[in-house]
Amino acid sequence: MAAQKISGPYAALGAHYAVHLPAPDDFAFWRDRARGLIQCDVPPDRVSWIEPGGTGDLFAAEGPSRSDKRMPSPPADARPVRASQHFLTLARRAALHTDPARFGLLYQVLWRLQQGPRLMEDKADSQVRRIEELAKAVRRDAHKMHAFVRFREVAEEDGTPHFVAWFEPDHHIVRAEAAFFMRRFANMRWSILTPRGSVHWDGETMHEGPPARAEDAPGDDPVEDLWRSYYASIFNPARLKVGAMLSEMPKKYWKNLPEAQIIPQLIAGAQAREAAMVAAGERQERARPVTLAEVAQGAAACRDCAIADCGTRAVVGEGPHAALLMIVGEQPGDQEDVAARPFVGPAGQLLDEYLHAAGIDRASAYVTNAVKHFKFTWKGKHRLHQSPSAKEIDTCRWWLDAERAFVRPRIVLALGASAARGMLGRTVSVNQVRGRPIMLDDGAELWVTVHPSYLLRLDGVARVEQAALFAADLAAVRERLGAD
Ligand code: URA
Repeated sequence: MAAQKISGPYAALGAHYAVHLPAPDDFAFWRDRARGLIQCDVPPDRVSWIEPGGTGDLFAAEGPSRSDKRMPSPPADARPVRASQHFLTLARRAALHTDPARFGLLYQVLWRLQQGPRLMEDKADSQVRRIEELAKAVRRDAHKMHAFVRFREVAEEDGTPHFVAWFEPDHHIVRAEAAFFMRRFANMRWSILTPRGSVHWDGETMHEGPPARAEDAPGDDPVEDLWRSYYASIFNPARLKVGAMLSEMPKKYWKNLPEAQIIPQLIAGAQAREAAMVAAGERQERARPVTLAEVAQGAAACRDCAIADCGTRAVVGEGPHAALLMIVGEQPGDQEDVAARPFVGPAGQLLDEYLHAAGIDRASAYVTNAVKHFKFTWKGKHRLHQSPSAKEIDTCRWWLDAERAFVRPRIVLALGASAARGMLGRTVSVNQVRGRPIMLDDGAELWVTVHPSYLLRLDGVARVEQAALFAADLAAVRERLGAD
């Protein structure tokens, strides 16, 4: 690395600056101070970056509060500080590492970038490489947090459920990653406790709390049986690679993962299970569920198609177990996946309005979907709905049929073509079959109409026309319900 030319008024004065960061992950603060110091030509060896709880710098005369007061002010004609987007992205992440030298390193590279704006392209540069390593370690830690946080349910005094998780991050990622969990579990009340601080979401606001201890988090609860049966069902002994598994799921996290407790047993029985799987064929025979609780457990553990690995959980139906009316949608959406309930998002709200207007009480219907998992693709930070394929709908019929066999509704309302396929096992055109009942094998009537999300995508005259047809379809169903 070439020696840096030190120039400017502050360099000449030889002052040493101690910058006290208010929090170990405060990248914005570092950036602000770094920018000012660069504009004042303060070279890296004249700055100490001190984290809360860190030891002060012997050469910096000023204490924590005085140091900030004595920060130099950039001259009015100071040149703007240059930093590529690539540097900022890496630096933002690297700043969350626990390496005490990270802020100094970032400042050194920012300093050098002023003279060599292409520095970040130099993959052989040891400082650039070190920043990349730090950022990579932080990214990996965040990935582990996404994958290994497990919430345990506790009841608040007022009876509302609160989900609490314990996690031990290697780096200062908790605050940065809180947004991920907020999006994922927006409608839940949850807390993530860690030795580096805690975050709490009450459904509306995020709060930060002090570091916690493992004992502060609840232990086992029934939610864990689901994780265990889920993990056992996706564990494929034929693909067992212990090394790869350990690197993806380090032992350190096992104690927090209910499913990990069965790993030794799964490994031990892997060969026997592999032989049994070969004998039984890929798709193992499973007993048809006879209760809705069995449907819920079975669908949660089902891995018969690839969608099951997409969403957070299987969302099964809800409503009275002997409902006269069963309403079938396509698949849970983003909000349904988070809330674990069908039709709670925008399409569900529109459906509720139309049901109400037609005189149908949603609470008296059993509401479910043809497909139990949310199929989506990431677009930036958003999960975009993707339609299930005919094969996926057919595969999931096992669970829909089981629900119908249990509820035995007299009328089924299928919303959209996927729901109709889920009911009939073949594709029909909604426009050709709407407005009249189709007799099902058990004598129930199937009514098919459009999906409410179709209305949400329309506007103007088309929306008015389609809304009227939808309302008429619901009115016909209402009439049939009243016919008994
Ligand atoms: N769309 C559906 O088909 N089902 C839901 O549960 C939500 C949106």
